[in-house]
Amino acid sequence: MISVKELTFSYEGYEKKVLKDISLEIPEGGFVGIIGPSGAGKSTLTYALNGTIPHHYKGEYYGHVVVDGKDTFDVSLTDLAVSVGTVLQDIDSQMVASIVEDELLYGLENFGVPKEEIPARVEEALKLIGIRDLKDRKIAGLSGGQKQKVAIAAILALRPKVLILDEPTGELDPQSSYQIFKLLRRFNREYGMTIIVVEQKIMLLCEFAKELVVMEKGTIRYQGPVRTVLEHAQELEEIGINCPRIVTLSDALAEEGIGSGRICLNMDEMESYIQELRNEAAL
Ligand SMILES: Nc1ncnc2c1ncn2[C@@H]1O[C@H](COP(=O)(O)OP(=O)(O)OP(=O)(O)O)[C@@H](O)[C@H]1O
Ligand SMILES: [Mg+2]
Repeated sequence: MISVKELTFSYEGYEKKVLKDISLEIPEGGFVGIIGPSGAGKSTLTYALNGTIPHHYKGEYYGHVVVDGKDTFDVSLTDLAVSVGTVLQDIDSQMVASIVEDELLYGLENFGVPKEEIPARVEEALKLIGIRDLKDRKIAGLSGGQKQKVAIAAILALRPKVLILDEPTGELDPQSSYQIFKLLRRFNREYGMTIIVVEQKIMLLCEFAKELVVMEKGTIRYQGPVRTVLEHAQELEEIGINCPRIVTLSDALAEEGIGSGRICLNMDEMESYIQELRNEAAL
């Protein structure tokens, strides 16, 4: 579905290579979390995936990015936008309309969604994100978190094959962040939508993502299934990514001679692990 081959990029006018020889394969229906320190190149990688690089941001570009069978270098941004929807990190630069409903309508009308389908799509997206009450509000008067929800609703309404979100929960409280990730999982499972999300809240990635990409200084330090990447807890900590306590807890128990140190990614897994340990102890 997405294939990045030996991608190296520096922004026009800057010598620094912001992406260095990046290679990455994301299958259709993947759910990939991208994490890494500030300035690692996470947003730049999302620009390369949705074609903003090289079409909008110019620079020195080596390598290939193929999305949904299209080399991003060869097709226009408009053609790419049919397959790839993006929620930007800078949410204000994302908004095109002044009223919430119009923000959703804009995309739907421009992407050739049949006219009779549009009202239902708007209603559905607003309802899913839980912002029906914002429908007639002015975007300028919304909080950062509300704007984030509007941007996500507007993109979800388009049902793209690939959805890229750059820190979509940055302005959201923990409960709304969790809700958004639950929705992403639903779209991933029900529609096979490929999800690529830059997210600093590692606990959310542990719970929802299938694969992790860890970026540092323009390179991919680790990539693979979440569990496999988290085996590098110590190295991750050295680059400023603190694994959730739940991930390191089983290791700590193993050091005390309890259990095998199997990584648990969430409370459900930890509960069944502890149950297994108790059963073993009772034998
Ligand atoms: N439009 C631009 N022009 C020139 N340099 C840029 C531009 N955007 C980003 N950079 C530089 O590229 C590097 C990577 O930035 P990028 O925004 O991709 O990192 P990031 O991992 O998304 O960081 P953050 O976690 O802060 O969002 C940084 O050194 C940044 O200064
Ligand atoms: Mg960024």
